[in-house]
Amino acid sequence: MSPTRSRRRLIAGNWKLQFGPTHAAAHAAALRDRLLAVEDVDLAVFPTAMSIPAVVDTVKRSNLRVGVQWACAHAEGAYTGANSPAMAREIGCGWVLCGHSEVRGDFGETDARVHAAIRGGLKHGLLPMLCVGESVEERAAGRLREVLERQLEVAYGSLHADEAATVTIAYEPLWAIGTGVTATPDKAQEAHAVIRKWLLGRFPEFVAAQTRVLYGGSVKASNIAGLLACPDVDGALVGGASLDVDAFCAIVDAARR
Ligand code: 13P
Repeated sequence: MSPTRSRRRLIAGNWKLQFGPTHAAAHAAALRDRLLAVEDVDLAVFPTAMSIPAVVDTVKRSNLRVGVQWACAHAEGAYTGANSPAMAREIGCGWVLCGHSEVRGDFGETDARVHAAIRGGLKHGLLPMLCVGESVEERAAGRLREVLERQLEVAYGSLHADEAATVTIAYEPLWAIGTGVTATPDKAQEAHAVIRKWLLGRFPEFVAAQTRVLYGGSVKASNIAGLLACPDVDGALVGGASLDVDAFCAIVDAARR
């Protein structure tokens, strides 16, 4: 299915563990000034948690939204080291990234906790961006659909259709993250179609029609146009290239219609 083009494109930058507050504020200021005129694409950046206040302060009243890369389900409590969705909201975040593969891989994030984090985000006014994706072995073994469907099934869990419709998905194949190897448009579309078909089977039709599915994994200015030409690709979650102002702005430019 591809009733795509009513969905507004979204380009997001995941800065991962880069840029302390001073550097992050300078980077955000450069993006803010360069992207001022962009009205036709939604924009978001995910700085490391410690840099969020500096970035929020820099981009206030601009078209750049800010998100937290990882939050637990709890607003507060005895959870040493965790980020609270309520506190993320309080300091000006609009988004929460849920289930990034680096959090799953490096810190043992589970599908069940991803679901809890989505719920926590929704409860405290954050828009969840759910990351899903398969490993190179899983794709080679023909398990793409099975892996994506399992991640989606547990992550959405008991969400009602209205809640589900507020979730954005980022399809990020593990083999494309930070490797310089991007999924070809065909491979990306194949996975995005699996995701949208799952949404269609699981929820009333408006959820699949409204949900933005972003592609992430070695996105650059040179490959974004081919990816965005796919009927089910609604934007990108950009890692490495989001650390370079020119590269990120070129990607945003390519996403404008
Ligand atoms: P790269 O663009 O560096 O491959 O990272 C993708 C990613 O993990 C975005 O969340």
